[in-house]
Amino acid sequence: MRDIPAHKISADDWDEQHSPRPETNDFDRVVEAALSRRGFLGGVLAFGSGAAAMGGALLSGTSARAQEAATRFPFTPIAAQTDFQVHVPEGYVHDILVSWGDPLFDGVQAFDHATGGAAADSDRVFGENTDGMETFVIGAHQIMAVNNEYVNPEINLPQTADGTPASAEDVRKLQNLQGVTVMEIVEGPEGWAPVKGSRFNRRLHHNAPMTIAGPAAGHALLQTEVDPEGLNVLGTMGNCGAGKTPWGTYLTCEENFNGYFGASDGLGGEATVQAGYKRYGIHEQGQYGYEAFDPRFDVSKTPNEPHRFGWVVEIDPTNPDSTPVKRTALGRFKHENAEVTLAPDGRVVVYLGDDERGEFLYRFVSDAPYVPGEDTAHLLNEGTLYVAKFHDDQSGEWLAMTPETTGMELAEMLIFARTAASKLGATTMDRPEWIAVNPNAVEAYCCLTNNKNRGLKTNAGGDATPVGGPNPREANKFGQIVRWYPAGDDHAADGFQWDLYVMAGNPETEEGAYAGSPNVTAGNMFNSPDGMAFDSAGLLWIQTDGEDSNEGEFAGMGNNQQLAGNPVTGEIARFLTAPNGAEVTGLCWSADRRTMFVGIQHPGGHWPGKEGDLPRSSIITVKRADGALVG
Ligand code: FEO
Ligand code: CA
Ligand code: CA
Repeated sequence: MRDIPAHKISADDWDEQHSPRPETNDFDRVVEAALSRRGFLGGVLAFGSGAAAMGGALLSGTSARAQEAATRFPFTPIAAQTDFQVHVPEGYVHDILVSWGDPLFDGVQAFDHATGGAAADSDRVFGENTDGMETFVIGAHQIMAVNNEYVNPEINLPQTADGTPASAEDVRKLQNLQGVTVMEIVEGPEGWAPVKGSRFNRRLHHNAPMTIAGPAAGHALLQTEVDPEGLNVLGTMGNCGAGKTPWGTYLTCEENFNGYFGASDGLGGEATVQAGYKRYGIHEQGQYGYEAFDPRFDVSKTPNEPHRFGWVVEIDPTNPDSTPVKRTALGRFKHENAEVTLAPDGRVVVYLGDDERGEFLYRFVSDAPYVPGEDTAHLLNEGTLYVAKFHDDQSGEWLAMTPETTGMELAEMLIFARTAASKLGATTMDRPEWIAVNPNAVEAYCCLTNNKNRGLKTNAGGDATPVGGPNPREANKFGQIVRWYPAGDDHAADGFQWDLYVMAGNPETEEGAYAGSPNVTAGNMFNSPDGMAFDSAGLLWIQTDGEDSNEGEFAGMGNNQQLAGNPVTGEIARFLTAPNGAEVTGLCWSADRRTMFVGIQHPGGHWPGKEGDLPRSSIITVKRADGALVG
């Protein structure tokens, strides 16, 4: 392994390095499992050089028709790109809404490329690495709530040699640049911009006060010396995808929280705590060096602090004085996004992915229905968490997680949700990223981004990751999107049927399953689907966070991108390409649907500036030149 700082490698690769897991490449078992499905796959399985290959039977019938279907996208698809620019189709224009370091409050200096912004101003500027976001309308105001997922310290602290913080001030600056930004935005003659000094503007960073609610609130595992009641936390972190409730609040999802913690004097604690560290990836060396200057992030000193992260946090963007609330009923894991929908009887259903190789897909169902105008504070506190089990016959079920089914006390079951889900025999997945519910049909989609360990290694809890079901390719390098149809057209039902909407692949360089499903062509190929959302017209937008070398098996895919998918025909078309080095993540629309907001995270080069500038994660606006609707 090259000697590179921990913050320069991706969160999942970092976990991998620090948790070497036994190789359990039992090829006989993999083949056996796959062969047993031969019957329903109609004999299309083939095996070559250790990798199971599959045909189209798991794929939706509609996607098989994709190649013949007439294109009905409202844009002309664009070619793959490898440059350091953003590209959109002809007839569309794009601009910058906001970049890391832009002032949100009066009296803050404009961004300085020499310093990466003053430390003293770092809690009053737009944060780093934009991710999930949603827009809200309050009277005449448009408010955007947006996640700032993590930092690129060598860019944010340009005065340091390699981004390793050298002081408590450096750590504080990094902490301030993350979390959530709430800001008013407005479209003027010069385009869209944040409203500097708006009363709605907030930065909810790593030290912002929050409360803990739901069944785990106050539990001994959440208590610390500073917060003996286990009810009040400082900060939210690893804010990845997002969600929006029907009652107008924002849900921010804490994903790779584990990397912020280290241990100066060993990973102590009782057996349960130690097992939790192992399952959730808390290591002696933190990824960002916080623990050297902030004892809260040193688990040798504050062993319960990591239990206070990994939650979904509810924020009221309309009330700048409100305190965000961590909703423990939704379980603790590496939350990707929180897709909210309603069951026919009004109960609230929240779909939740845990983005780690071999972890699970979850669902929360509230006890009470949502009734517009009535109090909503209890809805995400009282309900049942479920975990998905997929069967090879394309049926599936949601397994209720309760003290009775898991043998764990309720609060502990939610704090160590991964362990509880393992006990139920849930299906280990290829890294569940964003989930999206179709507004025009009772069905949901989840990006399974990739999983190099599929069929080769267990997850951190020792669960096998056999090839099969919606995870049909060994050492899955391209990813796929699974779709499920709830029984009885009810998202709260316990059963479902599933298929694969798309299997990403390379039809030019690969054969068999790695060539991808029939709706993947030389003209639209991509890898590692991640962000995903439906627009109001029913198009499924897919954003990627994958390999952008454009070489080898990734040749022809170019930079990370945003594509549109037709959920009925299965057709997929490339809409936008990001600068090389960036991923595309985060998508929402203006109230009039004439502007699409797209997040560009960790760009390479010096985008969006000029030669010599620091690269800056930014939200861009995309509009039609003729002012027509864009979703
Ligand atoms: Fe923050 Fe799994 O992406
Ligand atoms: Ca993601
Ligand atoms: Ca990703």
